[in-house]
Amino acid sequence: MLALFFCYLLIIHLQYCFNSCPLEYRSIDQNHSFCSRPFQNAIEQRVTSLEREYILYMHNCERQRVHGMNMEKMYWNDELEEVALKHAQTCMFEHDKPNQRSVPRIPLSTGQNLAMGYENWTRALEGWIEEKEHYYHSYPATAVFSHYSQMIWHSSVLVGCAAAICPPFGSYNISWPFYVCNYITGLINSNYHAAFQFGIPGYPLHDCQGKVCLYNGTLNLQTCQCECSTFASGIYCEKLNCSMLPDCPYHSSVSCVAVNVPLECPQFCGLCERYEMLRNVYGDENLAPIAPIISSTTTLNEMNETISEEFELVTTTEFDTTSSFDTTIYQNISSVSSKINISSQVLFYLCIKYLFAV
Ligand SMILES: *[C@@H]1O[C@H](CO)[C@@H](O)[C@H](O)[C@H]1NC(C)=O
Ligand SMILES: *[C@@H]1O[C@H](CO)[C@@H](O)[C@H](O)[C@H]1NC(C)=O
Ligand SMILES: *[C@@H]1O[C@H](CO)[C@@H](O)[C@H](O)[C@H]1NC(C)=O
Ligand SMILES: *[C@@H]1O[C@H](CO)[C@@H](O)[C@H](O)[C@H]1NC(C)=O
Ligand SMILES: *[C@@H]1O[C@H](CO)[C@@H](O)[C@H](O)[C@H]1NC(C)=O
Ligand SMILES: *[C@@H]1O[C@H](CO)[C@@H](O)[C@H](O)[C@H]1NC(C)=O
Ligand SMILES: *[C@@H]1O[C@H](CO)[C@@H](O)[C@H](O)[C@H]1NC(C)=O
Ligand SMILES: *[C@@H]1O[C@H](CO)[C@@H](O)[C@H](O)[C@H]1NC(C)=O
Repeated sequence: MLALFFCYLLIIHLQYCFNSCPLEYRSIDQNHSFCSRPFQNAIEQRVTSLEREYILYMHNCERQRVHGMNMEKMYWNDELEEVALKHAQTCMFEHDKPNQRSVPRIPLSTGQNLAMGYENWTRALEGWIEEKEHYYHSYPATAVFSHYSQMIWHSSVLVGCAAAICPPFGSYNISWPFYVCNYITGLINSNYHAAFQFGIPGYPLHDCQGKVCLYNGTLNLQTCQCECSTFASGIYCEKLNCSMLPDCPYHSSVSCVAVNVPLECPQFCGLCERYEMLRNVYGDENLAPIAPIISSTTTLNEMNETISEEFELVTTTEFDTTSSFDTTIYQNISSVSSKINISSQVLFYLCIKYLFAV
């Protein structure tokens, strides 16, 4: 009897081995980037801790510079980084879909900036920052300054970036670095909104340590407390009560991509199902987003000089970049997947991993 039971467990776990995509990702999107297969011979390039500080610093510098009244300080999120890495490793220089980059416990719009070919992260970020020459406040953003807009989007409080070195293929005859940054919140389909509200010069960044409020909650920038909607509760409004939802004022099936629609219509946009799944995976007490990484101020000070020098450099953009505004939806994950080379070692590893982790 016991043997039968173990046999049963083994079969369940074997299924995990062959469907190695964790439930919390796979149920958000069947083709979630977290589970995309790396392109053959793509080399992962995680950021070093110094690069991470640079990336945050450069973002926060730009955010500070615009003196926005509602501008928040940006922090690092490991889960965003992990998904960005998986996307970089596909070597498909295209955006994934918003849902495909969504972090399970943060069901908020998730934006993305991409770059390729730059020598290092500083250069890639400078490429995005250069777009500010064209920036026009409250103008419908075009791809011309959309990367910059994402960087200075007032509520983009979380970022996670990673890169991959991609081998020569297709029209690329040399290896090329592929840089990906994912952001919460994104500015997807918000192009008719200004990135921030004007403040007065010297206006500081609001620092709520990367706090986000879920399910249409509003972050009070003075107190850093979430003011939750009627149907949510908890410190981050992370507890959703779908039996209390008001009617959804939107009816188009495409509109869930827009920032405000899932917030106001969780049921309509699949967030109630997602919530039940999250409860099962993480448990009722662990639905809050993981705390972001808090930068050490000493490192920032050490870096300050180097970075201010680098800001003066004018670089020419050798390679194109794309951003979350390019609505071309990337459908070719499957074609990459079919080219994968999963060795039996990897399968074995996944087996072992899931046997002991589930
Ligand atoms: C990035 O590359 C440029 C150009 O080679 C170089 O001047 C700069 O020091 C590099 N930055 C970092 C942080 O490595
Ligand atoms: C790659 O292609 C470019 C132009 O298509 C060419 O100038 C260059 O020499 C090629 N590089 C290699 C390593 O083949
Ligand atoms: C959700 O709201 C309903 C109606 O107000 C209430 O009866 C129920 O207890 C709530 N559920 C939770 C989990 O709070
Ligand atoms: C969601 O939040 C917005 C802005 O705070 C508010 O105007 C709207 O009424 C809220 N919607 C719901 C359904 O709570
Ligand atoms: C960075 O340096 C500038 C002057 O070069 C100074 O005004 C600013 O306060 C410094 N920032 C930090 C975070 O140390
Ligand atoms: C997707 O793959 C198809 C067939 O391989 C190809 O024709 C198409 O151009 C690809 N699309 C993109 C966006 O790469
Ligand atoms: C996921 O990719 C498969 C092809 O591998 C495709 O048939 C399917 O429609 C995709 N699913 C979603 C939800 O995009
Ligand atoms: C798979 O990768 C291994 C090395 O990791 C390589 O030796 C082998 O040729 C690859 N197989 C295919 C079909 O590309």
